[in-house]
Amino acid sequence: MIETLESMYQEAKDRLDAADSTEALEDWFRAHLGRKGEIQLMSRKMGEIEPADRPLFGRRVNEVKQSLQGAFDLRSADVKQREMNASIARDALDVTLPGRRPQRGGLHPSTRVMRDIYRIFGDMGFQIYRSSDVVTDQENFEWLNMPPEHPARDMQDTFYTTDENVLLRTHTSAGQVLAMREYHPEPIRVILPGMCYRNEQITARSEIQFHQIEGLAVGHHITFADLKGTLTEFAKRLFGENRQTRFRASYFPFTEPSAEMDVSCFQCDAKGCRLCKYTGWLEILGCGMVHPVVLEYGGYDPNEYSGFAFGMGPERIAMLKYGIDDIRYFWSSDLRFLEQF
Ligand code: DAH
Repeated sequence: MIETLESMYQEAKDRLDAADSTEALEDWFRAHLGRKGEIQLMSRKMGEIEPADRPLFGRRVNEVKQSLQGAFDLRSADVKQREMNASIARDALDVTLPGRRPQRGGLHPSTRVMRDIYRIFGDMGFQIYRSSDVVTDQENFEWLNMPPEHPARDMQDTFYTTDENVLLRTHTSAGQVLAMREYHPEPIRVILPGMCYRNEQITARSEIQFHQIEGLAVGHHITFADLKGTLTEFAKRLFGENRQTRFRASYFPFTEPSAEMDVSCFQCDAKGCRLCKYTGWLEILGCGMVHPVVLEYGGYDPNEYSGFAFGMGPERIAMLKYGIDDIRYFWSSDLRFLEQF
């Protein structure tokens, strides 16, 4: 029996040296030292041994167990280290892999159009004049020649604060008199961009908030010819050198005379298409000569000074330029829309 044990021991040691993976080591442990392993089974064979030899046999079984356990621990540590090294070598960081592209933000279509417009008027010597979205009744209506009960107020219902004299501006024209009061008696060339608000039914064509860009020039000897020249040049720079403009008589309380400017359709070159509704023309802005009453509110003597003003909607221009058919896209924060610009 003791010879069997010795040869088992020898064989187990040889096999341990050949086990070169965690898996092989586990198999080895199960076969030799585990609860049903052959060495373990040997200790149950005590009954088959001559009583006199039992102590020697028992001691030898224990020695073999301990020796194999020690060898197993060493071998395990060695194999684990080697496996780890192999895994590190195999899964090494490949710095040549292309990185993930960071998501880049873009400019909102309104911002794009507004910046185009700023640049054009900036080149013509217009400064940007900023005024607040929250205005008084005077700024939004009275100083623009719309006294209380004036019928033109009906078209511009807005949102009022608890103080009915304080409201959200319905148009950037509300900044005109503020600019004049700041600059007079110096001449003025400013554009007034900003968000405007109206209490409207929201539809594909109308929103309760939208941008406007207002323009205002006041000085000596400013005539309707200056207005036409400035705005025609603007239209060519924004929509293309071949564009033509036409001015149709219109009405605004704060200008006299008043006009609406159309630009020849840039899509069909004025031949007639869906965009221009087969008229060849696109309506772009309202304009006119600043009304004497407005000049007076601004501190300018209308007998000495004159001026022109205009107002346009960047969202409307963006819709024409980019073929957007629903104004509600602008403030819906839908990335599928925004990512296209
Ligand atoms: N304020 C007008 C509107 O909201 C637009 C406008 C028309 C502005 C004529 C002007 C102008 O300065 O002269 O519809």
